[in-house]
Amino acid sequence: MKNKMVIQADVPKGKINKNIYGHFAEHLGRCIYEGFWVGQDSHIEHTNGIRNDVVKALKEIQIPVLRWPGGCFADEYHWKDGIGPKESRKRMVNTHWGGVVENNHFGTHEFLMLCEMLDTEPYICGNVGSGTVQEMSEWVEYMTFNGESPMANWRKENGRNEPWSLTYFGVGNENWGCGGHMRAEYYADLYRQFQTYVRNYGDNKIYKIAGGANVDDYHWTEVLMREASHLMDGLSLHYYTVPSDDWANKGSALDPSENEWFLTMKKALRMNELISKHSTIMDKYDPDKRVGMIIDEWGTWFDVEPGTNPGFLYQQNTIRDALVAGLHFNIFHEHNDRVQMANIAQTVNVLQAMILTEGEKMILTPTYHVFEMYKVHQDATKLDIDITSGTYQINNEELPAVSATASKDKQEKVHISICHLNPNDQTAVAIDLRGIESLSTIQGRVLTANERNAHNTFENPDHVKPISFEDFTVEGETLHVNLPSMSIISLTIG
Ligand code: AHR
Repeated sequence: MKNKMVIQADVPKGKINKNIYGHFAEHLGRCIYEGFWVGQDSHIEHTNGIRNDVVKALKEIQIPVLRWPGGCFADEYHWKDGIGPKESRKRMVNTHWGGVVENNHFGTHEFLMLCEMLDTEPYICGNVGSGTVQEMSEWVEYMTFNGESPMANWRKENGRNEPWSLTYFGVGNENWGCGGHMRAEYYADLYRQFQTYVRNYGDNKIYKIAGGANVDDYHWTEVLMREASHLMDGLSLHYYTVPSDDWANKGSALDPSENEWFLTMKKALRMNELISKHSTIMDKYDPDKRVGMIIDEWGTWFDVEPGTNPGFLYQQNTIRDALVAGLHFNIFHEHNDRVQMANIAQTVNVLQAMILTEGEKMILTPTYHVFEMYKVHQDATKLDIDITSGTYQINNEELPAVSATASKDKQEKVHISICHLNPNDQTAVAIDLRGIESLSTIQGRVLTANERNAHNTFENPDHVKPISFEDFTVEGETLHVNLPSMSIISLTIG
């Protein structure tokens, strides 16, 4: 079957919330420490302890929102241990992630300073699993209260007079698992209780996010929506792309067989089914779609790189990861009426990272480049798109070979992003572009590779990076595009 698309540039389909391009950074492995925080005494170039190269690179991709401090870490984090003079901060064991000592040098002030440097909105996840209602309530007071109060006074003593502005606050993380192994019914009650004391001070309005389901736990979504949807602004969902059913053998990041490649694409595409099914439940209790679906953990999860700490979740990143990212964005855009935020796990040195560091060296991953290529869709208007795709087949199984999305930005430019999953063969697509005055100015870029495991290294940091793309022709209203194997293409019209 031939690949075809019809894009109606004059049929808007709602806004693509820029927060879909959000990130997640946990106290896990070398994400916070080394990845962001090198400390004030480091020889690595930094500003107040935060490395400059990482901030500069992330600013390029316009991170809209950053989730912190976990993850599983959030439900054993006690924020009061991470404020005040660094030398007197409590040291703790990071039991979830490698059993290493956490010295709490990166805490609330440092995180909010990082967000200011990145020009990004903070999304803080509070502790339900091992914390108290008072602790959570006081954290919000500490950060956002502008006046005379025990917590606001303490914040001032610690050097910050003005409160921060904080919108996104999560009430626990994975409370069905590492966040307390709770039943949905029990967590729903706890959510109701904890969120009561997450206060709005002055003009600061908190967007409250309830801990949501794991993968296809539809019961969890049903119970949370039934019991507490009137008390939440968002409900989360976690789903990782793991090309195996055996968590002990998830497969190598760098050496995927073609079978694993196929399974990775198949599992990534499953995100569409999960969003649809969870949305159907949410619609039952919230037909106006007031409550956002917040996919605050997603991405690939492979075996750690040989020789690295298994608790640090360090994996390399290839053209396969780039396609997984593109597929997710195309799916998130399709569900822009419900999906209001997504946070890839995780920003630096952990799982599907944007950036890998080694001492003072830093490289950008293929996933980083997809975030950069897709940033044009942030807050743009989604356009109607109808796709007829050929198939990518292996072992009598098949997937659609082509996935795409289109949007129009404020300058009326139309942006089309296309993912071609087949790692072996090139293909072509005919795009029927309706409602566009002229196709005379089209700019293209492509991210592709010759090997399934193509990636960047500290020795060869630019092996996979976007280049200019001109392999298309215009015939009337139709754009004919040749798609290389395993490629992500972006086209800008106007
Ligand atoms: O991102 C790694 C971990 O995956 C997070 O800490 C947890 O929430 C999830 O299980």
